[in-house]
Amino acid sequence: MSKLNIVILAAGKGTRMHSNTPKVLHEIGAKPILGHVIACAKILNPNKIIVVYGFGGETVKDKFANESITWVKQAEQLGTGHAVQQAVAYLDDDANTLILLGDVPLVDAGACQKLLAQAENKLAILSFNKVDPTGYGRMVRDASGQISAIVEHKDATDCQRKIIEVNTGMMAMPNQYLVKWLAQLTNDNAQAEYYLTDIVAFAVQQGVAVVAEITEDEWSVTGINAKTDLAQIERIYQTRYAQQLLQQGVTLKDPARLDIRGTLRCGCDVEIDVNCLFEGDVSLGDEVKIAANCVIKNAVIAAGTHIAAFTHIDDAQIGENSRIGPFARLRPGTTLAASTHVGNFVELKNSQVDVGSKINHLSYVGDTTLGKNVNIGAGTITCNYDGANKFRTVIEDDVFIGSDTQLVAPVTIGKGATIAAGSTITKDAPAGQLTFCRAKEQKTIASWKRPVKIKK
Ligand code: UD1
Ligand code: CA
Repeated sequence: MSKLNIVILAAGKGTRMHSNTPKVLHEIGAKPILGHVIACAKILNPNKIIVVYGFGGETVKDKFANESITWVKQAEQLGTGHAVQQAVAYLDDDANTLILLGDVPLVDAGACQKLLAQAENKLAILSFNKVDPTGYGRMVRDASGQISAIVEHKDATDCQRKIIEVNTGMMAMPNQYLVKWLAQLTNDNAQAEYYLTDIVAFAVQQGVAVVAEITEDEWSVTGINAKTDLAQIERIYQTRYAQQLLQQGVTLKDPARLDIRGTLRCGCDVEIDVNCLFEGDVSLGDEVKIAANCVIKNAVIAAGTHIAAFTHIDDAQIGENSRIGPFARLRPGTTLAASTHVGNFVELKNSQVDVGSKINHLSYVGDTTLGKNVNIGAGTITCNYDGANKFRTVIEDDVFIGSDTQLVAPVTIGKGATIAAGSTITKDAPAGQLTFCRAKEQKTIASWKRPVKIKK
């Protein structure tokens, strides 16, 4: 195969999005539309990716600062042919060019490969048979079935408008032809634009073969022009992701009620119930179960762990065979070792919990190091913040913290210590002993009566 240049056209404003964000930066699966196109381009291993940008230029460039891309500005959007003309200076003489559109997020690398296989010494165009071809460029074929031109909808005769085979906009050809053809373009048409599609007629005139690769997958050639398209393609993207997971053996209670905005890696026999959202990079070990309505972001959950319903996890790691939730919240910097339990209405932040420890009910544990086999009673709070600074709490192995305890950091609870319920602990508690800090005595006032409602 020849050397490959890829030109991605992304200068359109996207007026119909009704947004201040450039069209190609709107997201599918939390990744910019253009990011999907760039990812596809990279699979094809080109020696150059050129993006033609225009509207919102700098924001678009900034978003992809880490990619090695040649950026070319099209100051005025005078048509797709004019857009490719801007890239000519960067095209390699001895390469083929693949043209992709920056607003087609589900573009398929396999179809591009087929197109490129046809482009050796030819002009190869990806086409599609569209039920309603209105608005698209039509693939005009001669009596023998050979492609003779692409005619834009606005320039087409009534007869040509009946053609349902349309140009997807993706095409490939040798640069030695492309550069020559681009120089021949005029804007003598219904839209006074420089149409890239006019190169088809030039190829035919000059005896260069024009071939079409007809795709069956409409979504992989569908461009996004409005928020309705964005929502529709998002669903297709999610459906396809869910299908992949099912094929890998993941159990999804309902593949239509799953959202993945990033990457979800699953081991063997993973089960995911309805309405779960996975964000960033999430990895689930073998036999992990995620119950309904969980939101899980940037997390590693080890084998055999069950996450009960309505749990929210953000930037945390959970060891194997743990039980989390329902209604638990794990905030950034939390790591739980194996066989830990975190129950309902428990919030953990920047805390490390060692093997076998339990925080089962209604607690806030922040900036804390917990040893092994610790039991944190209901309603325990680590007071980690004095209004200006944060401090750590250290709870050593085998500690038992009674319910409704406040641990005022910085404070250390020694190995095997017991803290009596209702204590406010402000000083380190020694290992192996009972420490408590409550009101001195329990009083009972025999004559006390409950207040009654005053009658008006
Ligand atoms: C174009 C094709 C049409 C095809 C359709 C598929 C031409 C003349 N027509 O139509 O045959 O059926 O795509 O969707 O090529 N762009 C620029 N600069 C410009 C104009 C466009 O970068 O000056 C970019 C847009 O951002 C977009 C892509 O090119 O990503 C296609 O532009 P669009 O206006 O959607 O193309 P159409 O004219 O609708
Ligand atoms: Ca279009």
